[in-house]
Amino acid sequence: MEKEQLSYEEAIRRAGDAIHRFPLIDVQGVPLMSTIAETWKSVSEFCPDPSDLLISTYPKAGTTWTQEIVDLLLHNGDAEVCKRAPTAVRIPFLEICAPPPIPSGLDLIEQMKPPRVIKTHLPIQLVPKGFWENKCKVIYMARNAKDNLVSYFHFDRMNLTQPEPGPWDGYIHKFMKGQLGWGSWYDHVKGYWKEHKERNILYILYEDMKENPFREIKRIMHYLDLSVSEDVIKRIVQLTSFQVMKDNPMANYSYIPKPVFDQSISVFMRKDSLWGSGQESWQAN
Ligand code: A3P
Repeated sequence: MEKEQLSYEEAIRRAGDAIHRFPLIDVQGVPLMSTIAETWKSVSEFCPDPSDLLISTYPKAGTTWTQEIVDLLLHNGDAEVCKRAPTAVRIPFLEICAPPPIPSGLDLIEQMKPPRVIKTHLPIQLVPKGFWENKCKVIYMARNAKDNLVSYFHFDRMNLTQPEPGPWDGYIHKFMKGQLGWGSWYDHVKGYWKEHKERNILYILYEDMKENPFREIKRIMHYLDLSVSEDVIKRIVQLTSFQVMKDNPMANYSYIPKPVFDQSISVFMRKDSLWGSGQESWQAN
């Protein structure tokens, strides 16, 4: 029998009380949400197609931004096509697993035909080995520690499936000790950096993208062996600006309802921040 296709809203409504702040469980030295740890075997054994592309980041480093850019590049800047579904459906999140009937990342991936674009937050040593054996392309985006940490703090306040962030002071220490979900920011950014040449990973920085999106989008285009006109790249710059994405219901996570993302606590597209701006940004919402 074919599975009923539910919207995120409906799937989350049906999951009901099974949704809560899941604890973190150690997987090979990396704290992951218990739902991920419990289904770890199927994630680690996932074998991609060589044509699949992986977008990897530490949480809150600009994943959604990169996903939108890549989707637009792959569709020659067609804004309407890139609104065909929410980000999480267009580019599934490899390891994510939530109570049924919310589809897991693997459920969504398996419904798609390659070439697929897949998101992960896994540190390099936990990326399923099939990605390397099949020489899949991998784009890694890193963000400076301060803005990444502030963003993660506010995200953990509003994402009601992540552990309580607790007070800011304690949160900084958890970040520095690698005790937040997906582990140490330091190990994450360094791990991909060390391997990026050998494994042909495109390593990009949030701050570079902010400084010159035209240049960075072109780098992604070359890496993906695409040929997109300069006018289209300019359009992609505009379509992936902070404000346009903030207003795009298919990119701003407004489709994830309150029992999971309570955006009345803190919005997903919080602020158009750049390294060094707003020292007090952790206080702002
Ligand atoms: P802030 O919380 O600092 O606002 P991720 O997608 O990895 O969860 O990262 C989310 C962070 O990226 C949020 O940071 C969000 O505002 C920022 N972001 C998303 N789209 C962006 C864009 N188009 N330009 C700049 N920052 C963007």
